[in-house]
Order: sequence, then C-alpha cells, then structure tokens
Amino acid sequence: MKRFALLLVICMSVCASAQKFEGLAPTPPMGWNSWNTFQTNISEKLVKEMAEALTAGGMKDAGYNYIVLDDGWEMKTRDKEGNIVWDPKKFPSGMKALGDYLHENGFKFGIHNCAGTKTCAGYPGGRGHEFQDARAYASWGVDYLKYDWCEHGTANAQETYKTMRDALYAAGRPIVLSICEWGNNKPWEWGKDIGHLWRTTGDITDCFDCQEVYSMGWKPILDMQIGLEKYAGPDHWNDPDMLEVGNKGLTLAESKAHFSLWCMLAAPLMAGNDIRKMSDDVRDILINKEVIAIDQDPLGKQGYQFMKHPGKEIWAKELSDGKWAICIFSTGEDKLKVRLDWKHFWILKGSYEVRDLWAKKDLGKTDKNFESEIPSHDVILFKLSPVK
Ligand code: GLA
Repeated sequence: MKRFALLLVICMSVCASAQKFEGLAPTPPMGWNSWNTFQTNISEKLVKEMAEALTAGGMKDAGYNYIVLDDGWEMKTRDKEGNIVWDPKKFPSGMKALGDYLHENGFKFGIHNCAGTKTCAGYPGGRGHEFQDARAYASWGVDYLKYDWCEHGTANAQETYKTMRDALYAAGRPIVLSICEWGNNKPWEWGKDIGHLWRTTGDITDCFDCQEVYSMGWKPILDMQIGLEKYAGPDHWNDPDMLEVGNKGLTLAESKAHFSLWCMLAAPLMAGNDIRKMSDDVRDILINKEVIAIDQDPLGKQGYQFMKHPGKEIWAKELSDGKWAICIFSTGEDKLKVRLDWKHFWILKGSYEVRDLWAKKDLGKTDKNFESEIPSHDVILFKLSPVK
C-alpha cells in the first residue's frame, strides 16, 4: 500500500509537469522580432527605440505586443556555474531591467535561444541546461521563448522540445514556447502538446520567390503551407516565419500580399522591419485592423488554397459567425483580370455582404458579380458576412 502511495505521488508530480502552459496563445501571437533586419546587431537601446516606435506609430494598439530579442543577446560563453549570461555591452542594464521596462510600457518580453549546443550565430545553446535556463528566463520576466534548432547533433526533436516545455513549466512562469525547428521533423504532427506555435519551413528572406541556401522568399513558403491547415488552431499555430513587410526586397504590392496571405494562414504576425523608419504606406499595411482581424479571428481556423490557375490563386478562411475571408492573389508577372461569380464558391451558403478590406469599401451582396484587375503579385482581400 505504502509503495502504491509512493508511486502515485511520483506519477502525479511527473504527470503534472508534463504539459505546456495552456491558453497563452488563443489567437496567433503578434509582435516585433529583431532578426530579419538587425541579425545580431541588437541592444537595449535598439529595443527601447523599437518599443517607442511601436507605441507612437499605432502598432501596439493594433495588437503587436511581443518584442522578441532574437539571436545574439548572449555572451559567447556561459559563466562558471553554467548560467547563460547576457552581453553587458549590448544590454548594460541587464535582462530583468529590460523585462521590467517592456512590461511597464505595455509589452511582453520575448527571447531566442536554441535546443542545440549553439545558436545558429554561435552563442551558447540550451542543450543540457534547459531547467537552469528556464529559471533564468522566468526570473527576467520573459513571456515568450523562440527555441531554435542549430547544432542539434543526433537529438530527437520531439523529446528535445518536450524537455524545454517541462523546464518552462517547472520554472513556474507562463511562457509561450515557439518551436523553431524549420519543419524538418513535421512538428505539426507533435507540436500541439509541446508548444504554442512551430515553424513549418526554413528561413524567410525579403524577396517574393527567390531561393537561397538557407532561406527563401514568401511565395515558396506560402506554397509549403498547403495541407497544413488542419493542424492549426487556438494555442497551437503553424508558423510560416516572421514578416518581411516593408523590407527592401519587396515591392509595396508584395508586402501587402504577403501580409494578407499570412493573415489568411492565421500566422503569427511578427513584424521584422525597422519600425522607426518605415514609410506611411508600410505602416498602413501593418496596422490595417480589418485585415489583422482576419488573422486574429477567434474561430482560429487556418485558411487554405481554394483554387489555383496559372497566374491566380484563391485562398479561403472560415471566420466566426458564419463569415468568410476570400483572398484573390495575382501570382503572375502581368496584371490579372478577375471576374468573380460568387455562385461558384460552393463553400458559401446563402447571401453575403461583401467588403473589400484594403479599399475599405462595401461592395454590395454576393448576388452581384465582381470584376476588377489585380496588379502582379498583389491581392484583393474580401470579408463576406452573411446577410441577416
Ligand atoms: C535560425 C532561425 C531564424 C533566426 C536565426 C538566428 O535560422 O530560423 O529565424 O532565429 O536562426 O540565428
């Protein structure tokens, strides 16, 4: 009997720790991440300037509330006790002070590290130090951990990310776990019980459809999301990587289409541009609240490719209260002539009010055909609401 009681106690404590913090990401996380523009050139000063710009430019109000420090905040070696330490030249006030600053200014604090022995930029990784690092992150007030996959050796991905999940849970502070394993081991099949989001591909870069050695443009990344829609939902999102909206390799149309399609995918919306210097046109893309509402819809359904023709794709996303988002994407090099007869959308039931979310215009009901032209690599994004 005594032995049974002991086993029960052990099982209860193990079982209790074998879980993620639930409910931290009911809708896809939104924020800003340093990597796409600054790589490892990051500092306390930069973070504070970005927080000010996010606030002043309306981004915080639009929902961008995580500020995530990506690779390069650490010293190149751990201290004698094996603790991970920040670079005091870049972060003279330290991580706890930075966390306090972000919280006082209405933001949440995100940080990056890696499940392998080193991060991709060569800083100390978390392997073998998971519980120690999780306690450090919790003590600094971290709210979001992006956990990368460089230098993982022969480690098993699922087990490795489980260890970090358990370490975060044991540290006691609710922290979103962003699995950044690049889709190598199909994290959509096992990520739901471990993290709140998981990368589905290698890195994004600021072009429409280029392919580099370790990175690619947003169009090939979009293509790789096809079929993954069934794995996403509240608190467990597919992550097609951060936004390149406003970065130099994209035209304004490509930035707008990229943003629209990431919203159709219910993707995490992590801006990756220099918020301090963006043009009004770029800001208008990032803070279009009606478009963001498609991404953040509480039903939490990822959109899917409804139809594909040469030069044209149509994406559909089911929304709450019987509404739908429909995105027409001009994929070719020439402008696309579109004529939509809504009767061909068999997913629709009855009559809907149609709104063009970029033109911010009501277009009448679905009994009327829609005709227009869409420039190359641009989109039209509609919200359809059932007629009451
Ligand atoms: C990997 C990730 C990127 C970024 C870098 C940092 O490539 O996929 O998003 O975090 O590491 O080194």
